[in-house]
Amino acid sequence: MIGDRLQIGLAGLGTVGTGVYEALLRNRSLLEARAQISYEVRRIAVRDLGKPREVALEPGVLTDDWRDLVEDEKIDIIIELIGGTREAHELVLAALKAGKPVVTGNKALLAEHGSELFRLSQERGVPLYFEASCGGGIPIVQSLQTSLICNRVDSIVGIINGTSNYILTAMEKKGLPFHEALEEARMLGYAEADPTLDINGWDAAHKALILAMLAYGTPLSPDKVAVRGIESIDPVDIQFAQQLGYTIKLLVVIKRHANQKALELRVQPSFVPQTHLLSKVEGVFNAIAVSGDIVGETIFYGRGAGKNPTTSAVLGDVVLAMRECRLPDYHTGFHPYAEAMRVLPAQETVTPYYVRFRVKDCHGVIAAISALFARYDIGISAITSRDGADDEEGKHWNYLVFMLYECNFGQLESSLAEIQRLGTVLGEPMVLSIERMGMND
Ligand code: NDP
Ligand code: HSE
Repeated sequence: MIGDRLQIGLAGLGTVGTGVYEALLRNRSLLEARAQISYEVRRIAVRDLGKPREVALEPGVLTDDWRDLVEDEKIDIIIELIGGTREAHELVLAALKAGKPVVTGNKALLAEHGSELFRLSQERGVPLYFEASCGGGIPIVQSLQTSLICNRVDSIVGIINGTSNYILTAMEKKGLPFHEALEEARMLGYAEADPTLDINGWDAAHKALILAMLAYGTPLSPDKVAVRGIESIDPVDIQFAQQLGYTIKLLVVIKRHANQKALELRVQPSFVPQTHLLSKVEGVFNAIAVSGDIVGETIFYGRGAGKNPTTSAVLGDVVLAMRECRLPDYHTGFHPYAEAMRVLPAQETVTPYYVRFRVKDCHGVIAAISALFARYDIGISAITSRDGADDEEGKHWNYLVFMLYECNFGQLESSLAEIQRLGTVLGEPMVLSIERMGMND
């Protein structure tokens, strides 16, 4: 039974937890009016009780054991902001079993354990809210579940990792080296505790799995996503992109192929035409283009990471939880409703490509590579080159770029394996898809 004052348990007082706690105090009268109930933050779980905190706390409110929140009968709602998947998994399971609605921003947890958690949430009738797990302050999770609910979703294409977009923008606009840009993103509170996930594409992949689940009705497992990150993007690729009329973005592409009863799901750095809205999304901003059979094309834009935007998403869910926990037979947490769809293997996906080689400075290189592409039935739309450098033995090499027409990725891989066996090609080529997205491209 909810008392006169709703009791909140907050797990995590880091970047987002601190923002949530501050906003619960700062906007109390507004939130209480909108939720139609007053509230109190009863306990807060952290890892290190001795750490200095940015906020003033009542004595006894902190604990270093999250079980104190779950086992406290007076606590009505749990906010999980500890991150990671092991303890967060235990915490969310325990909270749902204890009948306490959970608000989380933990996309890694949902990507890994979503099936189990949503099943439990459904069985017990205890909601699990997760607006902050995707797109920072952008209200995409609720939008897909409410305002856009009548649509068959044809595609979702977007930039959904703030850290990698911050890095790519800083490399392009300020000429910053990769690691300096990453350090700035960490200092600003955008990066994950382990930023490997931000740069290897997996944070975006976790969010893509959540978006696909919302759009197609069932959790999918992480092994279904083809994922590449931004770690190998070289400044020379950024310069070629600019020269050719594109911007490089870490894109999530989710597309329904109705004729094949399959879903395309990939995360990869891609060439986005400079005329497309997504190419203008800079720094920590995210944008998500959703195309539905009834609504047509929509685009959601906003800050994709950081303390305050994420706090806004968490508190949206908290107010929803405050309202709905007084309606025991009804909640708007996610209910799986569909069978899993087949996910297209990466080799079967089709786009145009940018392929950049390093080649020896000698005659016949372009002809030899072109002949091999032709053998695999891959058309070339343009070729450009740039002076490279001398190797350790004083022999000169150059950059050579091929812009390819649409081809199947499996075919491209086979052609590249042969091309790399040419004695004139040095190292691995850089391969980036070129996205065609409608809407001004
Ligand atoms: P932080 O690393 O800044 O904060 C984590 C907090 O959790 C810390 O207060 C830490 O305690 C506490 N904590 C960690 N493990 C435990 C544990 N086992 N028991 C109790 N407390 C624990 O993370 P963020 O605030 O950046 O992120 C939190 C969650 O929100 C993550 O799931 C993240 O993916 C997600 N998120 C983050 C966004 C962002 O922009 N930062 C945006 C959207 C989602 P202590 O302070 O003592 O170390
Ligand atoms: N590290 C994540 C990002 C936080 O940079 O997008 C928001 O989910």
